[in-house]
Amino acid sequence: MRLSVRRRTFLLAFSLFCTLLGLGCPLSCEVCKGSGHTCSGKVKTCEAGKDACVVLVGESSTKGRHSVSTFKACTKLKDCYSGFVSTTMSPNDYMVSNAHCCQSDGCNRGTVPPPQNNRTENGLICPSCIVPFQESCPGTQVARCVGRENHCIYFSGTVQAGIINTKFATRGCATESACYTKVGAEVPSASYLYFLRRADCLPAPQPPGRGE
Ligand SMILES: *[C@@H]1O[C@H](CO)[C@@H](O)[C@H](O)[C@H]1NC(C)=O
Repeated sequence: MRLSVRRRTFLLAFSLFCTLLGLGCPLSCEVCKGSGHTCSGKVKTCEAGKDACVVLVGESSTKGRHSVSTFKACTKLKDCYSGFVSTTMSPNDYMVSNAHCCQSDGCNRGTVPPPQNNRTENGLICPSCIVPFQESCPGTQVARCVGRENHCIYFSGTVQAGIINTKFATRGCATESACYTKVGAEVPSASYLYFLRRADCLPAPQPPGRGE
């Protein structure tokens, strides 16, 4: 008991010392991954270069199989987007997420509101494809955008699912917030970690006979 109090005091003094001297002291974040709208795990020290904590709640459908999961980890602030992201590849393949990024010790211990999942089509369309094990895909199918999705994305790179690491390529509709994702970023989603080599994002073309 006494030791742990002393240790805590030491840690507090250490981080205060770091802050005062403006040193790049390591951040610590809660780390966990699980199904449902929250998860809890240990607060761990982040590895060098990871200067932010993130808590992300994602709802996804993969070939019609629906799941909700929460992810908490250390990340790079430049890769972290606070807010709502929605992507749709087909009516049965989509993902919506809500995330919060922050930069103080254990700041991701709370929860974020679950993302709104508005599946109402908004009239916009994008080329679509989902291809595992390959770095590009033709986009010959059509995705019907829903809710606030008004951009078309083309993302490819590698995806890590547990111990499996494979290439992927995907195209479809997305909210403009998905455009904050840049090449080289490590992007957590509901159940996977994506490393992006390609991240194209363009406004969805207006369908003929609408708008201007
Ligand atoms: C859902 O999306 C549709 C299409 O963009 C929009 O018209 C509607 O207002 C949205 N509903 C809510 C509750 O935001």
